[in-house]
Amino acid sequence: MGEGSVLAEPGWAGAMRARIVATGSALPPKVLRNADLARMVSTSDEWIRERTGIQERRIVADGIASSDLGTEAAQAALARAGWDPTSLDMIVVATCTPDMPLPSTACLIQRNLKATRAFAFDLAAACSGFLYGLAVADLYVRSGSCRRVLLVGTEVMSAIMDWTDRSTCILFGDGAGAVLLEPSTDGNGILSTHLHSDGNLWDLVCVEGGGSRMPASAKMLEGRQHLMKMKGNETFKVAVKMLEATAREALAANHLDVKDVDLFIPHQANVRILNAVAERLGLEPDRLVVNMDRYGNTSAASIPLALDEAVQAGRVKPGSRILMAAFGSGLTWASALVKW
Ligand code: ACO
Repeated sequence: MGEGSVLAEPGWAGAMRARIVATGSALPPKVLRNADLARMVSTSDEWIRERTGIQERRIVADGIASSDLGTEAAQAALARAGWDPTSLDMIVVATCTPDMPLPSTACLIQRNLKATRAFAFDLAAACSGFLYGLAVADLYVRSGSCRRVLLVGTEVMSAIMDWTDRSTCILFGDGAGAVLLEPSTDGNGILSTHLHSDGNLWDLVCVEGGGSRMPASAKMLEGRQHLMKMKGNETFKVAVKMLEATAREALAANHLDVKDVDLFIPHQANVRILNAVAERLGLEPDRLVVNMDRYGNTSAASIPLALDEAVQAGRVKPGSRILMAAFGSGLTWASALVKW
């Protein structure tokens, strides 16, 4: 495992940790089924189900961008918490599919919500983005700098898909999830966060064009370099190792055993990755949260979407210990342990 940073651990001398007050999510209504993809590229429903566990994913209508889904998810969370948007101090948005290079998607969501007091910024850690954002939000709350924080993971992955590449276009979907955080009053909340990066593995999952190294051009478009490329098999192997390692790291930091975990919410990348990690950890399927059969890999939105679903389904109870772990382009990987 590469060098990483421990951001917050039990006993850390900071102020009150952050707790998640409410969750929300947003999904576009349009469903893209495996059978639809089989008409676009050389694949089959059977291959996709067996190799990935995905049955369908949601795709936005033309003109819908990440800030639209993110705003809807945030509004759902704000309504559940009964918070006025003007009471927000900070908005963090994790996304690898921003509406545009600038301004940030966070500023667009701030405008949509009329959250006039909040400062807002995006955070780029691909599929680990939500957990990176959780670590940042927790530290701002612990430091006493912010009392009310909105964290959003939102993606329109369909915008960076190469719809002629069967090894990637079958995997991803669009969606958004949001959480609201405030200082904990009872000691529950975010118990720990662990973040890691290894830029040597940058080319496992990347979009090479459209930035300062390869600015937008006709040649770039022709070479399809504005779209995602992935070394799927290599990513798979690294993902299993890193998810297991960072999950164990979270447990060790909290002096907990895997039996103490009520729910494990991993980044929804491939059901074979999730099952392999759960098996290595010794975690039974009923404590593993899986929703990628319906939504595919929604990158930074995947964990908050799954968390919101688990909360709405009554799978999360006061005192539940929730272990979350993610990996993504960068390479980045991360874990968080939350006591609800
Ligand atoms: N339909 C049919 N056949 C396919 C398809 C498809 N959709 N995709 C690939 N194949 C073929 C390949 O061409 C290959 O054929 P060959 O043996 O004739 O060359 C064969 O299936 C096996 O290919 P592999 O790549 O070895 O298949 P694998 O079992 O590894 O599954 C997959 C591929 C699903 C991509 C898997 O590797 C995976 O899920 N990897 C992890 C991806 C991931 O988690 N990415 C997360 C990061 S995303 C982010 O950060 C934004």
